[in-house]
Amino acid sequence: MELANCELILEHLPGAMVIDLQGTIVYINKQCADYIGTARSHALGRDVREIFPDTKMIDSLKLDKPEIVFYNSFGIGISVEVPIFSEGVKVGLLEYDLVQGSEVLYELADNYTHYLDQELKYLKHQINELRSTKYSINNIIGGSEEIMRMKETIISAAKTNSTVLIYGETGTGKELVAHSIHSLSTRGKHNFIKLNAASIPENLVELELFGYEGGTFTGADAKGKKGKFELADKGTLFIDEINQMPLPVQPKLLRALQENEIERIGGTRSIPVDVRIIVTTNQDLRTMVQDNKFRNDLFYRLHVIVIKVPPLRKRLEDIPLLTDYFVRYYNKAMGRNISHIDEQIYHMFRNFDWPGNVRQLQNVIERGVSFAKGEHLGLGDLDLDDGARSAIPARGPDVPDLIKTVKNDAERKLIAATLARFQGNKTKTAESLGISRSLLYQKMYRLGIK
Ligand SMILES: Nc1ncnc2c1ncn2[C@@H]1O[C@H](COP(=O)(O)OP(=O)(O)OP(=O)(O)O)[C@@H](O)[C@H]1O
Ligand SMILES: [Mg+2]
Repeated sequence: MELANCELILEHLPGAMVIDLQGTIVYINKQCADYIGTARSHALGRDVREIFPDTKMIDSLKLDKPEIVFYNSFGIGISVEVPIFSEGVKVGLLEYDLVQGSEVLYELADNYTHYLDQELKYLKHQINELRSTKYSINNIIGGSEEIMRMKETIISAAKTNSTVLIYGETGTGKELVAHSIHSLSTRGKHNFIKLNAASIPENLVELELFGYEGGTFTGADAKGKKGKFELADKGTLFIDEINQMPLPVQPKLLRALQENEIERIGGTRSIPVDVRIIVTTNQDLRTMVQDNKFRNDLFYRLHVIVIKVPPLRKRLEDIPLLTDYFVRYYNKAMGRNISHIDEQIYHMFRNFDWPGNVRQLQNVIERGVSFAKGEHLGLGDLDLDDGARSAIPARGPDVPDLIKTVKNDAERKLIAATLARFQGNKTKTAESLGISRSLLYQKMYRLGIK
């Protein structure tokens, strides 16, 4: 019975007070009066600004729905302001406290910070997991002796801080090797920072590596900027295509490697850095040294642990494993369910030269999986030459031309003859050749069939 008593309920709300549209206090509970240090009898009937000069209630009279406000008078707190309506017409405003006093607020803030910390830890963990599942040594597929030996070297390299120099043709997996060393090492929790010496203009390489001090040049960030060395602190700095490192920068890089400290451009202080260096090259550095295109001293500083990633054509026995792996990978990525791979595919793959190495194989399979119908991957779904072209960068080695010409001729004749048989009907032609219409179009375009 007592509980239906509204006044009794209001008495239990912390800091409850009601004003009318003029700002006159029409209700104030004992707790509120005590909190702001007044007597209820004194407050009732007075303008709220008289009792509580910093009040936000007058402003809040214009609210049409409840709002939460922070206050900092009579202590710190958080209150709720609730407009009161009678038969659709606003008649006043109720205010009561959610938080009274700084202790509660600090405790809340602490709890929230703790919650954010936990959240951050969790996300960091997730990121590390993702990174390590994408780039771990387990993702280096292959059972050949070359790969097994390379994996052993990766494991022992990961236990040291020595510089690693990775040699290998395009698409052999050099970056994968670098990532694996990083994630296996104690530095794996820290940054893996990448710099590609070939992809930035020569005069910016130094800036990227060492950063700059504030006010060095117009347009620069006033606070200065960290370079890759500083960003990689405690982690790994991966310099891709070191053979393209501009000669004038080489002595500065060498100095950083020897002293374990750097100077930002335009700065005078030395900044200590703790960085593990992994570099790749697709040119023979020793020959470059002989031709005065690479500094001798830097070459010797980098030539500590050397990993040679073998080209795919030298380990053809890895092809079935890689093929199955990429088919599974693209099944998942594209929501496909290819469960059978034509034997002829393995046969053809083993007779191909793979100038674009694993990347080329991966691209050929990606395209194949997207063209394949149903659960079967057949020879007709694959377009080796086209895949090869997109897989080989411009400076890569050439495809053996004779085989290619003969193969293209045969393919051109077959397609032209089939088209003639079906009076140019592409759907029927594709069907008869066991390939999709879009692949037929691509082949026709590539082979110059109109
Ligand atoms: N042994 C392997 N097992 C599984 N995937 C591999 C393997 N080697 C390479 N790959 C895959 O092939 C692609 C190319 O590899 P990566 O980028 O490491 O080559 P790279 O040697 O750095 O080439 P580039 O010289 O062109 O930069 C990547 O998608 C990589 O994951
Ligand atoms: Mg690479």
